[in-house]
This record gives sequence, C-alpha cells and structure tokens, in this order.
Amino acid sequence: MSTVEFKDRVAIVTGAGGGLGRSHALALAARGVKVVVNDLGGSVDGTGGGSTMAENVVAEIIAAGGEAIANGANVTKEDEVQAMVDEAIAKWGHIDILVNNAGILRDKSFSKMTLADWDLVVAVHLRGSATCTKAVWNHMKERGYGRIVMTTSSSGMYGNFGQTNYGAAKAGLSGFMRTLCLEGAKYDIRINTLSPTARSRMTENLMPEDILEKLTVESVSAGLVYLVCDDAPNRMILCAGAGGYSETKVVETQGINLAEGDQTPENVAKFIDQIRSMEGAEEFTNGGQQGTKFLTRIQKGEFMV
Ligand SMILES: NC(=O)c1ccc[n+]([C@@H]2O[C@H](COP(=O)([O-])OP(=O)(O)OC[C@H]3O[C@@H](n4cnc5c(N)ncnc54)[C@H](O)[C@@H]3O)[C@@H](O)[C@H]2O)c1
Repeated sequence: MSTVEFKDRVAIVTGAGGGLGRSHALALAARGVKVVVNDLGGSVDGTGGGSTMAENVVAEIIAAGGEAIANGANVTKEDEVQAMVDEAIAKWGHIDILVNNAGILRDKSFSKMTLADWDLVVAVHLRGSATCTKAVWNHMKERGYGRIVMTTSSSGMYGNFGQTNYGAAKAGLSGFMRTLCLEGAKYDIRINTLSPTARSRMTENLMPEDILEKLTVESVSAGLVYLVCDDAPNRMILCAGAGGYSETKVVETQGINLAEGDQTPENVAKFIDQIRSMEGAEEFTNGGQQGTKFLTRIQKGEFMV
C-alpha cells in the first residue's frame, strides 16, 4: 500500500485564493508542505484582480502553524510566473510540487461564443498550465524530483453544453500530461490529472443546496494530496467529488485490419461493430503502440476479409 508522506517539500498551488485551490493549499500546508499561494484574484470570467484572496489564505495557513507566501502572478504571463518561481526558490531553496489549478469560465453555446472567449479560456487553463510547468521543469529535472498536477474536468472528457472552449482546454491538459510523463520519467517527475466536482463560486448556482453541501472541496483535496505525495502515482486521471473517487482511462479497441484492396468505406461500415467492440480493449502508454498493433497484424496476415 502506498504511504502519503512529504519530506521537506515546497509546493506552488495556482488559483489558490478560493475554492479548490485554497483547500488544496490548506491540506498540503497541514502536512508540513511549504506553499506558494498563487492567485490573480479576479472574478469567475477572468476580469478584475487583486492580492487579498491569496493573502487571506496565507494568513489562514500561518494561523494554523504552517508556512506560506502569497503571490499574485497571472499564470498566463511568463515573466510573472518566472518571478514567482524565483521567489519560492530564493526563500525555500527548491520547488517539488506544482498544482495547476487556476481557471476561469466563459460559457456560451458555440454559435454565440466569440473567439476572444475561446482564446482567454484556453490561455488560462491550457497555456497557463504550460507556462507554470515550463517555469519549474528544468529545476525539477536538475533535482531529479517533481510532482505536477493538471486540473481537468468531466467537460474535457465527456463534454458539457456551452463549454466548447473550456472542454477543449481541459482535454488538452490530459494530452499534455501524457507526453510530459514520457519526458519526465527519467527524472522522477510524476504528472497526474485531477478531475474535480466541488462546490465553489464556479458551480454555486448550478445545483440545489442539498447536493452542493455534499460536494465539499476537502473531499477533492484528499485526492489531490495523494497525487502529489512522495509515493505518488504517475499518469493518472483521478476523478473526485462528494467523497467518490474513480479513474478515467483512455483505452483503444482491438479493431480490425483490412487487406489492401479491401480498404473501402463499405468495409469500414460492414465491420463497424467489431471496430467499436470493447472486447480486449487496451490502454497504451505511448502513441507508437497503436501503429505497432496494426503493423503486427499485417505481418501476421490477420485480415478481416
Ligand atoms: N468546482 C468544480 O466542480 C470543478 C469541476 C471541474 C474542474 N474544476 C476546475 O478546478 C479548478 C478550480 O476551480 P474552482 O471551482 O475552485 O473555481 P474558483 O473560481 O473558485 O477558483 C479558480 C481560481 O483561479 C484564479 N485564477 C483565475 N485566473 C487566474 C490567472 N490567470 N492566474 C492566477 N489565478 C487565476 C481565480 O482568481 C480563482 O481563485 C479550475 O481549473 C476549474 O476549471 C472545477
């Protein structure tokens, strides 16, 4: 069984001025992790800003006996993110954990969405996570240690009406994780993705009170703490909400091979049930394995017709 321990660890939690990020920061600090509480302090749609939200969380952590500093960097701005990383290293000597949590919403049906709404949501979630990850990446490589979490959403995996921009950005994060895992493996940098469901200002008006009160941020942070501990898993999408925990996996069906001359749309239609059948579905750990599967069958002469 894995243990949940933190040996002299320093974490950056983005968007930690409220909601899930605040809860993650408090939970890590309670386990002795020193925390950079980052938050731009804007509203749900990404407008406005201020440093009070992050400072309040730092005050809570210090009052509880923990160590933390506030930071108001905008995760989309390279120079501000680099200054945040430099400040943490100057103060505590190293960064071991990055929790990419900051996010905004600009929900609208696709026909009504402007490309400016698209760009901003993708910039904060996807590029913002890349910007923060880039700023700690070489430092983690040099130290031979790192734990990084991306925050996705059920919208990114299954879709949600009115969230094409958000869904695309959130799906991008799990793709980002899978390739980053390959590049970080040699340096003990483990990257996981959290898919939360929790009461926050983002979800406050979406559900009735009796449901919202079950959706505690603390239940999600229990999963987050496990994803960044010394004995963390790697490449996992952990779903957490209302005390429920599960894993989303990307798997591929066995499918079929058609011989040259038989590779027609009509034959794809004819064998669509076998192509889609989940029997023998497998999870790959890199993209090349898909090609290998198809080519191995050609070598063995395994064709449908
Ligand atoms: N609450 C849910 O049920 C739910 C579901 C799926 C995914 N999520 C994801 O969880 C994360 C946290 O969301 P939440 O529900 O706690 O909402 P929230 O609005 O309370 O938290 C997001 C925080 O990010 C900060 N932020 C926004 N843009 C920033 C920027 N450019 N730089 C730095 N900070 C910035 C905000 O000020 C805010 O405090 C988000 O990525 C969200 O998409 C939440």
